Amino acid sequence: MNTLDRRTWLKRGALTAAGALVMPQLSFGETPRAQLKFDSRGRTLYSPFFKEYNASFFPDETKLLAKLNANENPYGPSPMAVEAFKKTAHLGNRYAWRELFDVMDKIAILENVDAKNIMMGPGSSDLLEKTAMVMFAKGGNVVSADPSYMSLIRVAEATGATWKSIPLQDDWSHDLKGMEAAIDADTKLVYICNPNNPTGSMTDHAELVDFCSRVSEKVPIFVDEAYMGFLEDGAKKSMVSLVNQGKDVIIARTFSKIHGMAGLRVGYVVAQEATLDKIQAVTRGGMGITYPSIYAASASMDDIEFQNKSRKLNAECREFVYKTLDDMGYEYVPSSTSFILFPIEMEGEAFLEKMTAQQVGVRAFDIMDKNWCRVSMGTMDEMKIFATALQKVLV
Ligand SMILES: Cc1ncc(COP(=O)(O)O)c(C=O)c1O
Repeated sequence: MNTLDRRTWLKRGALTAAGALVMPQLSFGETPRAQLKFDSRGRTLYSPFFKEYNASFFPDETKLLAKLNANENPYGPSPMAVEAFKKTAHLGNRYAWRELFDVMDKIAILENVDAKNIMMGPGSSDLLEKTAMVMFAKGGNVVSADPSYMSLIRVAEATGATWKSIPLQDDWSHDLKGMEAAIDADTKLVYICNPNNPTGSMTDHAELVDFCSRVSEKVPIFVDEAYMGFLEDGAKKSMVSLVNQGKDVIIARTFSKIHGMAGLRVGYVVAQEATLDKIQAVTRGGMGITYPSIYAASASMDDIEFQNKSRKLNAECREFVYKTLDDMGYEYVPSSTSFILFPIEMEGEAFLEKMTAQQVGVRAFDIMDKNWCRVSMGTMDEMKIFATALQKVLV
């Protein structure tokens, strides 16, 4: 669909529907072919508090000077992962069952759990979605923060569940009391993204441990830790140790972020064996991961130097963006991730179009009736291009 077609199409939709629209969406988001809801202004409608702006045209992403719209790690994959991938590509005529078990054993050692507590998938999206499909097969509701990462929630809704969205608190942490109060007899799962996307914020560790320990006695809790690897003390902040304490928590991790393997598609969840049995009674873990990606993931786990480098350079870029925003007099949400959310004094669609004209790809949201930009950390050179573009666009 070309620029004009989509614009006309959105406008036509806006004229014909009074409230929320439902139409197929082509966007540069994480789920380009998903069915999304739109509001009357053509914004993706996640909740009354949380909408995403869509530019009226689609940038040719290969032409961007700085692609900062999907929280990709600009340094990855690790050279050791690339080497392992190349070396094993010719084995792609085989199913990689044994290799998958080997990497699960390795992950089990890393996470200090039994291999029976692990389910693999081609990226953690696959596991978020499979969990939602199984948990909400008979309806029910999912309790989560708003705004948050929408993958599991959207599949839950599409499967027939309702979303009980609890706004984040003023400091952008989860309102754990509010979430607990929202749980009722129909709640099948609580979803917590920590650090949270799109805000980049963390919820207090001790409070979250307490919440997960107690509340998982009533209902399973899914904790999405996609960005935990960017924290110096990520292992200590994880909820994974609750699995060994017998708690019904499901912890999701991905090789897409700190390992820089978003396009190679490897992720896993750590959970109680009985919970995984429930999910795997309907779907199969690991089936979607390619032979070479399994080897690449295993090699990447050994490349601690690469992970340290990614973490360090990511933190340097965050500091650079904080300073840029400080100098411009802009606020921001302090980030524990590889992206930063900050308010912009410009309508999001115009902002996206102006940034794209500068060949910079970012995301724009309406959160709590304010306009926001979410920028991913690229290389320092890319962040300098972003800063120059921002100064042109916003002043
Ligand atoms: C919070 C969160 N969870 C999960 C994912 C899914 O990542 P993947 O499917 O690449 O593992 C993302 C991707 O951006 C994310 O931001």
